Amino acid sequence: MSRCFDLARRGIGAVSPNPPVGAVLVHQDKILSEGFHHYFGGPHAEVDAISKVAEKDRSLIGSSILYVSLEPCCITGKTGPCTELIIAEGIKEVRISALDPNRSVAGKGVERLRSQGIHVIEGILREEGEQLIRAFNTNMRLERPHILLKWAQSKYGYSGIEGQQIWLSETPSSLRAHRLRAEADAIMVGARTVATDDPSLTTRAYPGKSPQRVIFDPNGRLTENYKVFDDDGCLVHYYSLQPNHGIKRKHIRCVQLNDDLHMPEQIMQDLFNHQVGIVLVEGGPFLHQQFIRMNLWDEAWVIRTQHPLAHGLVSPNVHGVLLAKEQAERDTIIGILNEK
Ligand SMILES: NC(=O)c1ccc[n+]([C@@H]2O[C@H](COP(=O)([O-])OP(=O)(O)OC[C@H]3O[C@@H](n4cnc5c(N)ncnc54)[C@H](OP(=O)(O)O)[C@@H]3O)[C@@H](O)[C@H]2O)c1
Repeated sequence: MSRCFDLARRGIGAVSPNPPVGAVLVHQDKILSEGFHHYFGGPHAEVDAISKVAEKDRSLIGSSILYVSLEPCCITGKTGPCTELIIAEGIKEVRISALDPNRSVAGKGVERLRSQGIHVIEGILREEGEQLIRAFNTNMRLERPHILLKWAQSKYGYSGIEGQQIWLSETPSSLRAHRLRAEADAIMVGARTVATDDPSLTTRAYPGKSPQRVIFDPNGRLTENYKVFDDDGCLVHYYSLQPNHGIKRKHIRCVQLNDDLHMPEQIMQDLFNHQVGIVLVEGGPFLHQQFIRMNLWDEAWVIRTQHPLAHGLVSPNVHGVLLAKEQAERDTIIGILNEK
């Protein structure tokens, strides 16, 4: 099952809003084939693993055990139901980690296999299996994107100075931040961050796709000259309360917000409706506070730097369960899980 998790991780950054899934087919304690879900809408891990069995080994499939990190689906989505493939291949034992939180599967995949006399064991390394699909879990349970907040802060807990561009983190932790970007479907920033830092919000320091960009400009203060509005093939979602803003270019989706109290909720709902499963909110502090105040976040990733900045914009503060603690030279990266 641990091998399934490793395989599943290879799909992170490409499969959302589907979950990452890995599968291994084992015959008499030897791995016959492996597979994982490669990209959104692509073949599921079980299909990938079964299709990779060498021709000479195909007769062994029926007497093999299928390990899979997530319950096989029993519905037709972008691909056919995996349960039917497992049944058709004559596999007699399936071992699963997490059950599928998707209401139309949730336990029914296991039921379908058992109804055909297949021996199913579920809950193997369940905690790790559920951790792996935590973004998908949020999508299914709360019907909104999985929300990650990310910021860098100085040694004394400041995130910047109003109107002034300051580089707080060092290169290794910036690389880690770019990995977070590559794993997200979209990155969101506030208008003051755009105006101060003119970020490009790409994953240039890490291989992988560049996510969509989400710009929060309630007062319609931005012009099209900033890099976030470049037409580089990435979709840009622009949100404002103002109907008469200066953003008109064709590749930018302009959405008018209708209420300044619930702006983050409106934006997340709209993004979810556009198949955005994971959003990385990169700030600034005002935007982060909007999400924290509404308890609208799932993970916070804080880069604690040694920068001596001791005044300016105070960094946000969140409470939760420690998810990860990594050292990147002098910077410490802390991942916090919101359990509320
Ligand atoms: N350390 C980090 O990780 C990090 C990350 C991102 C940004 N930053 C720094 O954070 C600063 C920008 O962050 P920010 O928090 O000022 O803005 P922001 O979150 O980037 O943008 C806030 C948006 O909300 C609007 N807003 C409405 N009421 C506000 C209020 N009372 N205070 C602030 N904004 C309000 C602003 O309106 P207007 O358009 O009218 O201003 C602006 O459109 C920059 O200096 C940037 O360098 C640091």
